Order: sequence, then structure tokens, then C-alpha cells
Amino acid sequence: MNTPTLELIHQHGSVRNYKPDSVSEELIRQIVAAGQRASTSSNLQTYSVVVTTDSEKKLKIQQISGGQKHISQAPVFLLWCADFSRLKRVCERQGYDLEPGYVENFMVGTVDAAITMQNAALAAESLELGFCYIGSIRNAPWELIDMFQLPELVYPVAGMTLGWPVEPPIIRPRLPLDAVLHWEAYQQDDLLFLEEYDQTMIKTGIYDGRQVDQQDQAQAQETYGWMEHSNNLSPSFFLKSHGATRIRYTAELALGGLSENRLSTRVGVLVTVAHAGGWMAGLCSRTTPDFLPGG
Ligand SMILES: Cc1cc2nc3c(=O)[nH]c(=O)nc-3n(C[C@H](O)[C@H](O)[C@H](O)COP(=O)(O)O)c2cc1C
Repeated sequence: MNTPTLELIHQHGSVRNYKPDSVSEELIRQIVAAGQRASTSSNLQTYSVVVTTDSEKKLKIQQISGGQKHISQAPVFLLWCADFSRLKRVCERQGYDLEPGYVENFMVGTVDAAITMQNAALAAESLELGFCYIGSIRNAPWELIDMFQLPELVYPVAGMTLGWPVEPPIIRPRLPLDAVLHWEAYQQDDLLFLEEYDQTMIKTGIYDGRQVDQQDQAQAQETYGWMEHSNNLSPSFFLKSHGATRIRYTAELALGGLSENRLSTRVGVLVTVAHAGGWMAGLCSRTTPDFLPGG
């Protein structure tokens, strides 16, 4: 069975080469409004997005992101954030206090932001626009916080370039479905699928010219495929290169890294007493320490 939505989803490819043409404010509003239609934990809608078309800002973000040229080339850059600041104002308006510090809130805000941005991304693609997520803004989130004047309890999750593609993007093969789809119980016996995928990815030529460094044989040429690539880009590699010694949770980097940079209380949040009636009171009442996801 096929539908236009399925077709669109399967045509996805990140776009890293944009025409200089601008994207109208109306289209951007439409795209973000489509993002807003995504499901959201307890209807809290704990996210915000800041849009910039400013060349200087984009250039600065490019520098933070290790020089990725598509950031300044794209006419639009969106910064998707988890946002508990709005909820704080709601609670205060209702006469409740906030208590920071729950990793669950980190999950709620980050997941909300992520699925919202993916809805927006699909909307953009349906309009024949292209996009590329920019996770490297987390190299220096405090710079983005200053640049966009994000208040307390608002933290960047990911950026996104947006614009008109110069050419259709490369469609990167994905893992075989059976490597990620488990029925009734998790199956670890997936090495054959992974090896098959490794070969598929090597054949695309995406990794051409990449090498594996070997301890006893510097710069030895070896087959470089998805597995080697994933090893090099794994979170542990990333965290170590950012000075962390051990992974406990992704939040460790996000929260620990941020706290070192005067942002500790940006995440956390919201404890109040249950109170009847109204959307705002409902929000506050759901954010008790006993709050469980899926409410
Ligand atoms: C959270 C997130 C962060 C990403 N960050 C970057 C980035 O900083 N730069 C970039 O060029 N691509 C980035 N990407 C795009 C991925 O590299 C890309 O989605 C992946 O290689 C699969 O390719 P495809 O999107 O073309 O199918 C990011 C993707 C996600 C989901």
C-alpha cells in the first residue's frame, strides 16, 4: 500500500546545498504550525523555536558547528528548544511554585521538541523545501542562548537549516527493517543485518576516501563502512572528545555541560499541587514529582 505521505517520507534526504532564494514568512509560519500539530506530552507543549535569517548569526552558528557551510548558505535557520519557561509563567500566574531538577522534565521537553521539529520537517519537504538538522549547536549551546536571548528554562535541542534545494538530496539507505523491528521480544541476533547494511552503505560511495586509523599501522587503509563510521561517531566518542569520562545518560552531557556554563537551572522544573479546572491549572497539577509519562 502506498500513500502520498508514505512516498514523501521515503524520499527524505538531508539537504546541504541551498539556492539563495528566500523562504517567505508565511511558509515558515505554515511549517511551524504543522510542527505544532505533533503529539505533545500531556499537551504541555514544552518547546519553542527561534527563527533567524540574519547572515551574521548564521555565520556564528556555522563557526560553533565546526564550519558546516550549509548553515550560512541556507536562507533560514531554526533553533528548536525545549521550553519550560512558558510553563513557569503559567504556574506563577496560577500561584504555584516551581521546583527544578527532574530528568523526566528533560525527557519531556526534549522529546516534545524533537517530534515537533520532525513534523515541521515533513511539512517543509511537502512544500519542496529541504532541511538539515544541526545537532552541532550543542558544541556551545550557551552561545545560542546568548544570541537568541533564551530565558531560564529554555535550552537548545537542535538546529535546522531550511531552504530550496539546489539538487535532489542523496537518499541514504537505512538499516534493514528487521534490525530495528522486534516482535514480542527484543532480538540481539542482528549481526548479519548489520553486515548487510555495512555493504549497502559502502556501495553508495558515501564513505569513499575514509580510513581507519590502526594503532600499530598508522593510517592503514581498511574497508570503511557504516559500522566503523558509527563507532567513530558514537556518543561515547563524542562525550570523551568533550571531556566527559563516562556516559550515564545523554542528559549528563546536556545538563552537566550546560551547568558548567551557568545554565544549570535551565532544565528541571515544575512542581505544584493539583488544582482543579482550566488548562493552566491542569498543566500545573500534572507536573508534580509523581508525574509519570503518558498522562
Ligand atoms: C538530531 C540530529 C542532528 C544532526 N546534526 C547534523 C549536523 O550537525 N550536520 C549535518 O550535516 N547533519 C546533521 N544531521 C543529519 C544526519 O547526519 C542525517 O539525518 C543522517 O546522516 C541520515 O541522512 P539523511 O537525513 O540524509 O537520511 C543531524 C540529524 C539529526 C537527527
